[in-house]
Amino acid sequence: MKNLLKNKVIIITGSSRGIGGATARLAKKYGARVIVHDKDENKQLKKCAKALKTSYIFCDVADEIAVKKAVENVMRKEKKIDILVNCAGINSAKSFLETTDQDWLEVFKVNELGTVHFCKAVIPFMQKKGTGRIVNVASLRGYDVASGNTAYSASKAAIINLTASLAKEYAPTIAVNAVAPGFCDTDMSKTWTKAVRKKATQSLLGRIAKPDEIAEAILFLASDKAEFITGQTLLVDGGYSIAGK
Ligand code: NAI
Repeated sequence: MKNLLKNKVIIITGSSRGIGGATARLAKKYGARVIVHDKDENKQLKKCAKALKTSYIFCDVADEIAVKKAVENVMRKEKKIDILVNCAGINSAKSFLETTDQDWLEVFKVNELGTVHFCKAVIPFMQKKGTGRIVNVASLRGYDVASGNTAYSASKAAIINLTASLAKEYAPTIAVNAVAPGFCDTDMSKTWTKAVRKKATQSLLGRIAKPDEIAEAILFLASDKAEFITGQTLLVDGGYSIAGK
């Protein structure tokens, strides 16, 4: 597995911490030329790039022009982009009646449009090269909804749909897949209520995921080992969605 991604140029959005951070570390271990990314040029991003001896880009994924410029910078430096992982995302934990239009717009701007912006910026370069792989990060909530999470769940369902649509539109040149993580221990999980935390351990495996375990699934789909897989969303939830059913 050491050479799984040897010399592949991979952009991973939202990769200064959490699932994106674990994916960046693992991709480096698998031989990739990793570009880490965050919303702004913060200490954590610089530290992460330094630790991986790699370069970084920063932009708000909701800002289409900034995303395009960041991707063009990568192209100038690396001359190619083999893999894009869209991992940046935010949670929105409110009951349906409490959510405002602003809440809906915010979560869709980051989770769905952020993915759209990076795909739009990267796809023309992959088309020119004649090959490419994209992995989007959806969520268990894109399938198996919970109350108090409507806007987030809808944004992740949109990513599952976008994944299949893009796979169809850009086959056979570009493979587009998604990973839908179940509960995973990251900064995002610190936003969960006690009740959610308790529920999260009720997977068939009796625990929540470590970021590395989600990263392995992402990089499998990003690699040539998944050559014949496109348009799919892989649910990585430790069996949570079928427990007790
Ligand atoms: P996290 O909060 O630790 O990391 C999210 C990353 O996205 C951070 O680096 C953050 O700065 C970046 N980000 C947020 N808004 C951004 C913006 N507007 N522009 C650029 N970057 C932005 O979260 P975690 O848990 O690592 O989540 C990663 C992905 O996995 C997200 O898409 C999340 O929805 C998804 N996910 C997480 C689960 C969990 O249990 N932690 C479960 C299911 C899905």
